[in-house]
Amino acid sequence: MLLKGKNVIITGAGRGIGKEIAKACAKEGANIGLTARTMEELNATKKEIEDLGINVKVVTKIADITKFQQVMEAFMTFQDELGLINSVIANAGYSRMWTTHEFINEKFAEILNVNVLGVFYTFKAAYPYLKKDNKNDKARFIITGSEAYPNAPSKLTAYVASKYAVVGMQKAMATEYKRENITFNMVLPTQVDTRALRGKKAGDGNKPEHVLNPWDLNDYYLFLLSENANRIDNGLIFTYDFNEAKKVLTEAPSGKKENWEVFKDYFREKAPKSYDNVKKYGKLVDFIISRS
Ligand SMILES: NC(=O)c1ccc[n+]([C@@H]2O[C@H](COP(=O)([O-])OP(=O)(O)OC[C@H]3O[C@@H](n4cnc5c(N)ncnc54)[C@H](OP(=O)(O)O)[C@@H]3O)[C@@H](O)[C@H]2O)c1
Repeated sequence: MLLKGKNVIITGAGRGIGKEIAKACAKEGANIGLTARTMEELNATKKEIEDLGINVKVVTKIADITKFQQVMEAFMTFQDELGLINSVIANAGYSRMWTTHEFINEKFAEILNVNVLGVFYTFKAAYPYLKKDNKNDKARFIITGSEAYPNAPSKLTAYVASKYAVVGMQKAMATEYKRENITFNMVLPTQVDTRALRGKKAGDGNKPEHVLNPWDLNDYYLFLLSENANRIDNGLIFTYDFNEAKKVLTEAPSGKKENWEVFKDYFREKAPKSYDNVKKYGKLVDFIISRS
């Protein structure tokens, strides 16, 4: 098991991407701390994990990620019940679409508060409890970003601003904590079939083909949490490009897809635009191959 005995905390874990990450981490043996504002959804995630029949601890605690006191209390609970924390996934997020000049002021602020301040509060509250005593097993702080960085789709100005901001935050924190055995990485998904994108239609089986399932992202998080990524820091994992790699892998002839070393030239030829974002993370391609 990839994460046996590790303590992993996930924000925004009641549904969507966070829920799938939580289940995937539990399947790999991690104890899980789940937080969001809606207790029924956290309980549903917890139940799905318990139904897997794996011997891991699952702790739930509601917190509004924009309220520091609540976030602090959540992390205190996780530390009390699980012990020191190996990894945190700052995944909670929120968005709304409007033309910029019509954007409701309070909504603009709310999006920044959840997506930017929420990441800051998550790190600040987690920091005292991060297990950062082992350079061979570093603590991980992973942010769920978005393809909104760098694509900047229109009518999403607040969301785009927030997802640009967290890339900057990651870069600054990766530099600041370089000597403290904490790595900072991001997964930047394209569109995913969750309530954030498709409202109540999420999971109805009718998603457009290009839209990913939330569980399609699990390998990226698991890799970043695993010992394979102990030395990967300030990394940006663009799911678009790794999805291209997955597609090319399925079509590649044998002899060209056994590992990154033999695959890389073939991939560069087939998907030159994605190659640049993938080539730094050949280990992730190996990880994907090993799990397929
Ligand atoms: N879906 C996509 O197409 C897509 C694409 C790129 C990136 N992302 C990113 O992926 C992450 C997860 O989103 P998702 O697609 O899984 O959306 P989702 O299904 O709507 O889930 C969002 C999660 O964040 C929590 N959350 C929202 N506001 C919160 C607050 N104020 N305090 C605490 N928790 C809060 C929600 O729980 P409560 O409402 O119960 O608090 C929920 O658990 C976000 O960062 C999003 O920006 C999504």
